[in-house]
Amino acid sequence: MASDKNTLLEQCKLVLDNNAKDGYTVPSLNLYPHQWLWDSCFIAIGLRHYDIKRAQSELLSLTKGIWQNGMLPNMIFGNDITNWDHRIWHSNINPNAPRSLATSGITQPPMLAIAVKLVGEKLAAKERPDWYRSMYESLVSYHSWLYKERSVNNDGLIALIHPYETGLDNSPPWISLIRHQQRLPWWIKASSSRKIRWLIASAIKNKQHVSQSERTNIKDSLSYFYLIQRLRRQKYDIEKIKKRPKFLVIDVGFNSILANANQTLIEIADEIKQPLPDELKESIKKTKESFNKFWDEDNKKYYSINLKTGKFIKKSSISELMPLFSGAISPLKASLLVDRIKDPKQYKTNYPIPSVPLSSPWFNDRKYWQGPTWLNTNWLIIKGLEDYGFNKEAKELAKYSIELVAKNGSSEYFSPLDGAPAGAKNFSWTASLCIDLLEDKSLS
Ligand code: GLC
Repeated sequence: MASDKNTLLEQCKLVLDNNAKDGYTVPSLNLYPHQWLWDSCFIAIGLRHYDIKRAQSELLSLTKGIWQNGMLPNMIFGNDITNWDHRIWHSNINPNAPRSLATSGITQPPMLAIAVKLVGEKLAAKERPDWYRSMYESLVSYHSWLYKERSVNNDGLIALIHPYETGLDNSPPWISLIRHQQRLPWWIKASSSRKIRWLIASAIKNKQHVSQSERTNIKDSLSYFYLIQRLRRQKYDIEKIKKRPKFLVIDVGFNSILANANQTLIEIADEIKQPLPDELKESIKKTKESFNKFWDEDNKKYYSINLKTGKFIKKSSISELMPLFSGAISPLKASLLVDRIKDPKQYKTNYPIPSVPLSSPWFNDRKYWQGPTWLNTNWLIIKGLEDYGFNKEAKELAKYSIELVAKNGSSEYFSPLDGAPAGAKNFSWTASLCIDLLEDKSLS
């Protein structure tokens, strides 16, 4: 356990050093040996406090994976072409995929503009415009791509085609859809057999590094794999995918981050005096105007929307608190969310904020996105609380978050009940966001 701020900072920096690759940082050496989109953004946010060049290269290397149509993939693979993740995607069957490096065929929450701006704020004033200019084109292409391909109803809200795109892979809203709606192929059904389950578990690398009880179960993992397989067969072509979607949701968490990132992109554009394209400005306006579609007046809650049915997915998860980060909701609605954060039956635990409220039948304090506390969602909520003037609450949550890492190291996630570490050890965004919270003067 780290006894003081400097020791904790050094411990966190060591995690990031050990996870460093050529120009980027992997989330965890064993479990996640590639570059991930929103991970690298969170990592750069911590790095900027002590190694600004490395923070810049972390983000620049993400843009190397950008597709010709503007898509930023959630994963850029390292050189190990024998790796399982690498082999299942085959995204170069789509003509827009880069030729010189391998990526996945889907995206992740659009944190890039936010990370670019936060890194920029740490640069000397005369270096900042060059930094913003070096990232500007990628940012504009990416945000434009989101609207062009994924604003399915042309209302400025972005649709996602795989649970991985939400960043909260097996959160109850997605798992419940996958379990109830898919007609599964025989080989997934067969996975209920004990012998087949054992064989598959042995093949999944996870098992060597993390307790299986803390991860997605085999059948759900296979269903997710099946979704990838379908996307691959459809050549990651959105027109084909939209015609026969298996998973098509408008996630309130992703769109909250987008609303914030849009505002940040406007600020970057202003700073370098580069007007945004008119079409993009129009779409950005629509996102704000449509945001209320996530609000369920009957339950007074924000929910994601299943586009296949047009209905809310009424399963609680931490995404319902993300509108705090959007900047797109009224102070009154923000205060309703804060009430839920303070409610001991919902999100107020010993080590907040759980990824699923205590009141949910899905709650499990150790299972991946179905209960544990994560540093990245805490960080987003802390920023949102500050934006809406809940400074005391923001400071308190920052204190709890730092305490978790000081006591239990940079684990991937933690039990919200007793703070016990779970998932991968030495996880990069836990370390980097702890650095950011420790260095944030407004939170001390
Ligand atoms: C898991 C998380 C995802 C993260 C990735 C790499 O898939 O759900 O959000 O980006 O791991 O850390």
